[in-house]
Amino acid sequence: MAPEFNVLVFLSYFLLLLSVVANDCMPTSCRDDGPIIRFPFRHKYRQPQHCGYDPGFDLYCNQRNETVIVLPVSVEFIVKEIDYVSQRVVLFDRRGCFHENLQFLNASASTFQFLTEIYYPYYLLDLNIFNCSTPNENLRFYSVQCLSKSSYGIYVIPSGSMIVSLELVSCTKLYKVCSAPRISDGQTYLYLRWFEPACERCESQGKRCSLKHDARDHQLLCDNEPMKSKGVLRRLLVAGEVLGSLLCVAVLVLLYRLYVSIREDKENKLKVEMFLKDYRALKPTRFTFADLRRMTNEFSERLGEGGYGIVYKGKLSGEIYVAVKVLNNSLGIGEEFINEVGTIGRIHHVNVVRLVGYCADGLSRALVYEFLPNDSLEKLILVEGADGSSFSVEKMHDIALGIARGIEYLHEGCDQQILHFDIKPNNILLDRNFNPKICDFGLAKLCSKEQSAVSMTAARGTMGYIAPEVVSRTFGRVSYKSDVYSFGMLLLEMVGGRKNMDHSATTSQVYFPQWIYNRLIRGEDMPEHMEVEGDECKIARQLTVVGLWCIQWCPADRPSMKTVVQMLEGDGGCLAVPPSPFPATSAPNSLVRTHGRHHHTDLDIIPEV
Ligand SMILES: *[C@@H]1O[C@H](CO)[C@@H](O)[C@H](O)[C@H]1NC(C)=O
Ligand SMILES: *[C@@H]1O[C@H](CO)[C@@H](O)[C@H](O)[C@H]1NC(C)=O
Ligand SMILES: *[C@@H]1O[C@H](CO)[C@@H](O)[C@H](O)[C@H]1NC(C)=O
Repeated sequence: MAPEFNVLVFLSYFLLLLSVVANDCMPTSCRDDGPIIRFPFRHKYRQPQHCGYDPGFDLYCNQRNETVIVLPVSVEFIVKEIDYVSQRVVLFDRRGCFHENLQFLNASASTFQFLTEIYYPYYLLDLNIFNCSTPNENLRFYSVQCLSKSSYGIYVIPSGSMIVSLELVSCTKLYKVCSAPRISDGQTYLYLRWFEPACERCESQGKRCSLKHDARDHQLLCDNEPMKSKGVLRRLLVAGEVLGSLLCVAVLVLLYRLYVSIREDKENKLKVEMFLKDYRALKPTRFTFADLRRMTNEFSERLGEGGYGIVYKGKLSGEIYVAVKVLNNSLGIGEEFINEVGTIGRIHHVNVVRLVGYCADGLSRALVYEFLPNDSLEKLILVEGADGSSFSVEKMHDIALGIARGIEYLHEGCDQQILHFDIKPNNILLDRNFNPKICDFGLAKLCSKEQSAVSMTAARGTMGYIAPEVVSRTFGRVSYKSDVYSFGMLLLEMVGGRKNMDHSATTSQVYFPQWIYNRLIRGEDMPEHMEVEGDECKIARQLTVVGLWCIQWCPADRPSMKTVVQMLEGDGGCLAVPPSPFPATSAPNSLVRTHGRHHHTDLDIIPEV
């Protein structure tokens, strides 16, 4: 706005100056001792039209600085005096010969009345001008000395005067002037009087006459103020007008700019919207807490609740639904939050849940994910157990393969290796097509790919899925193989189903992985109650074998996720049964015993050895 404003200020000063210089009816004169020119007269070239009453009052200065008036039609006389009170003008002809110009004068067309030397009005007469070759004593009274020469005489004779025609025998008539004042020979001054405008009373009170501003019918004002302050007044008036119009212009400019800025705002908003759309595809967007409230409709619909916070359903825009995980503030610095945003904010895989955005607004921390309508794998397993509905083995296989690919991508597909450390059914979400997506990267860790082991100050993970080396370093070094272990446990749980562990008489007291391993090495088929046969049975066996490979006690014995994916993609028939995944000493140790019951319990922190 600043440059426009400066221009406006400059313009207003400029116009003010102009108005002071040009729009002024300050009295003026052609020379110091010359008559003062003011209303009803005006200086034709110095003052604007409204300063004078009528074109007949126009004056100007000649090269000798004399004040010149033009009488109709084209007679120029010099103004000697102007009496504004008695409204009289005294004129003279510089060559002292009024008669010279007589033929160009139409006194009846003039604004002025011609007066005699004693201020009586002249009766205008028609005059005949004669050229007489011989001097005529009888016509002496009509003679005009300034035009006559020795050889001839010029006489001005009013028409109808009683002149004997004989006396004009030697004369020729030059021309006739209609309605002219009878000017005596040798007269020095011409006296004129004006009646309109009638300012005598006003002027006699020492006031100043002027035309009413903007009045078309020549209405008069009589101001108390002396001329000088009247000029100031007018100047102020003009200045006011100028400033007023400038203000109008300024307001218009402002309004226009406002309009433009609103339009730009709109365009910008659209641009931002577009940008965000593109941006969202690559990086998570930052939301304010108010955004979250709006998105979740004041946190009205709860999707679930976890150790780290409550998950609400929200609507991003149009048909895009999101899951908003509001983290507990009590968690302090929110390492988990940083982990999640930093980790999955940058990765995109069909089997990894997408982080749409996040919120770090004051103390509020929230993560916004794509919304997956089919809930978690855990619920699916539970529901299957509850209502007995068949959960097709092919489907199970697809889900397992999807999860394996997701984990493989985390391990191999990014710049840095991402170790999830919390693979469990609860953290596998299913979309509309039961396509699994890994979520909850709260415990994830970024490692360089070359790193063979990860240092940890605390145990991470969930009992039942946690690799033994994560619980205690005595079992090996923590690495990506720890995720493989968790995946193996998950796979076995999918095959076995929770019901096998919780309700079945055969396995209620037995650790399921061990139970199924025992069956496999005995060459027995998959348990009948799993309701699988033929190809399905083959697939179930494949899943089980892969799962058992993954949960090998020693990390080095476990395959990498890449191998796991290959094993799952393959036929499955040629998969060798792995060695016993359990520590040689025995059977279910304290760790595996807790499986199931302490499913959701996070481990206590165990200091690193
Ligand atoms: C007329 O007046 C101007 C100043 O107003 C002066 O410079 C000039 O010499 C004058 N001319 C005559 C002929 O007096
Ligand atoms: C003189 O002026 C009057 C009024 O304007 C006009 O009627 C008349 O014709 C003029 N006479 C001459 C000779 O121009
Ligand atoms: C008057 O008449 C004489 C001759 O009679 C002539 O020479 C002179 O020029 C005339 N004057 C005018 C002003 O016409």
